[in-house]
Amino acid sequence: MSSHPKYLYFVGKGGVGKSTCSASTAMALAEKRNKTLIVSLDPAHNLSDIFEKPLEDKPKKIEENLYAMEINMEQRVESSLRKNIEMMKNLYSYLNVINLEGMFDTLRFSPGMEEYAVVLALEDIFENYKEMDVIIFDTPPTGLTLRFFALPQISLLWIEKLLALRKKILSRRDSLKHILGEKYHDKELPSTVKDDSVFKELVSFQERLKTLKNYFTEDASMILLLNPDKLSFAEGQRIVDAFKKFSLSLNMMIINKSGLYNDNHSDKLSQFRENYFEDVSKKFNGLKTIELPFKSSGTLSREDMMAFGENIFKIL
Ligand SMILES: Nc1ncnc2c1ncn2[C@@H]1O[C@H](COP(=O)(O)OP(=O)(O)O)[C@@H](O)[C@H]1O
Ligand SMILES: [Mg+2]
Repeated sequence: MSSHPKYLYFVGKGGVGKSTCSASTAMALAEKRNKTLIVSLDPAHNLSDIFEKPLEDKPKKIEENLYAMEINMEQRVESSLRKNIEMMKNLYSYLNVINLEGMFDTLRFSPGMEEYAVVLALEDIFENYKEMDVIIFDTPPTGLTLRFFALPQISLLWIEKLLALRKKILSRRDSLKHILGEKYHDKELPSTVKDDSVFKELVSFQERLKTLKNYFTEDASMILLLNPDKLSFAEGQRIVDAFKKFSLSLNMMIINKSGLYNDNHSDKLSQFRENYFEDVSKKFNGLKTIELPFKSSGTLSREDMMAFGENIFKIL
């Protein structure tokens, strides 16, 4: 086994079977003695329903080798904001005229907070559960998923700009110090990169973002789920196109609920099926693909899920 776990992400439109397939894969892996952690990143969790056990924001043992957790997004947004406010207070003590505490509620609901919380949760999981053989992520709706995958790269661009700006500020300060000498009134403010805690903080954030980006681009196995319908295919295409932009690669595809319409012999549906599979193989040419059958029994049994997991396991 490598020094860190294998990371699997199940992505796709809502309702295609992300939770079902990620839980099935986790069960099959655990049965084969892989220490497996499954994590729900979806604010509308349903792993606890699937495993019929209440879950929390820390791993809970489900069965031998199988652990599950559901990220508490709200709590994580709050605690990361609190940490950031503390950091701002320390770095910018001369800014205490601004009531940072009073801004808490506004910031909590500001755009970007959710994906930031997911990214921090992931960082925490990458750091703290290295003893696992496999970590499986059941992802939230596509919009949020794409935003959290993109966040490290976008933030890295910002950090570069901020570092350049900070360097400029420091060099201006340094010039002023030299020009004004004794008359310079802010002598205690740092004027070099090595003395400046803001610069250091930015560099350390940059390092964390680079590490996260590697976790997403180099260490991840992405599994796209589709159903035999137009909408999940359209969303699948959007996901793959967005992945390309962020240098994320797709590793395999599952067409779940395959055969959903097989009992219906209308010409129109047969035509749809034919076109659908043609379109899918054109768009996802060369991608490892499996089909999982539609089970009309209502709820999927443990045996059904284990069989799904076995099939997915074979091509991981
Ligand atoms: N192959 C299948 N056959 C029958 N029902 C399925 C199958 N896969 C998933 N389901 C059902 O479809 C619904 C949505 O699945 P779920 O895993 O919750 O999707 P997602 O997590 O992508 O929103 C659930 O009721 C689930 O039991
Ligand atoms: Mg789900």
